[in-house]
Amino acid sequence: MPEDAAAISELEILCFSSPWSKEAFTKELAENPAAWYLVGEIEGRIVASAGLWLIVDQGHIINVAVHPDFRRQGIGKALIAEMLRRTEPEGVVSYTLEVRTSNRAAIALYLEFGFCPAGIRKNYYENPAEDALLLWRNLPSDEATS
Ligand SMILES: CC(C)(COP(=O)(O)OP(=O)(O)OC[C@H]1O[C@@H](n2cnc3c(N)ncnc32)[C@H](O)[C@@H]1OP(=O)(O)O)[C@@H](O)C(=O)NCCC(=O)NCCS
Repeated sequence: MPEDAAAISELEILCFSSPWSKEAFTKELAENPAAWYLVGEIEGRIVASAGLWLIVDQGHIINVAVHPDFRRQGIGKALIAEMLRRTEPEGVVSYTLEVRTSNRAAIALYLEFGFCPAGIRKNYYENPAEDALLLWRNLPSDEATS
């Protein structure tokens, strides 16, 4: 929802070295028909968010963020599970994302969901400069067509 843009951007500042601005999220949530977002709330406060672009039959995961005070409590896992559960029926047959090669927490999380390493994008990130690990998760073909 566009009104969640401020809370999501505050979360981004805590979680990423090059966060998207509030304006970018407002535009994304209001105007990007491919954007699909989920937030996690505790007592009415947004403490986690996950975003994905639905492009034909692919889901490109854009950002998954859990407030530092609420990590290691299963929130990230719950967000990804819910995102997959809700978007697979939209016809998504594969998911992809990039992640910093040093981001062991996120890589471990995605591997738990069957994402597989598919390559390296050299110098993909800035601030600091770092390669990205490209991950893909494909549904079994019988599941994708049933
Ligand atoms: C990555 C992130 C979303 C994980 O969120 P979280 O709520 O702490 O994750 P969960 O508690 O659901 O953990 C799920 C799994 O992720 C892995 N994991 C999470 N944190 C980890 C850590 N610090 N070290 C190693 N593995 C970790 C584990 O496999 C864990 O499963 P387990 O608890 O059974 O061992 C969170 O650390 C975060 O917001 N990081 C900053 C932003 C970011 O890097 N986003 C991803 C960019 S693609």
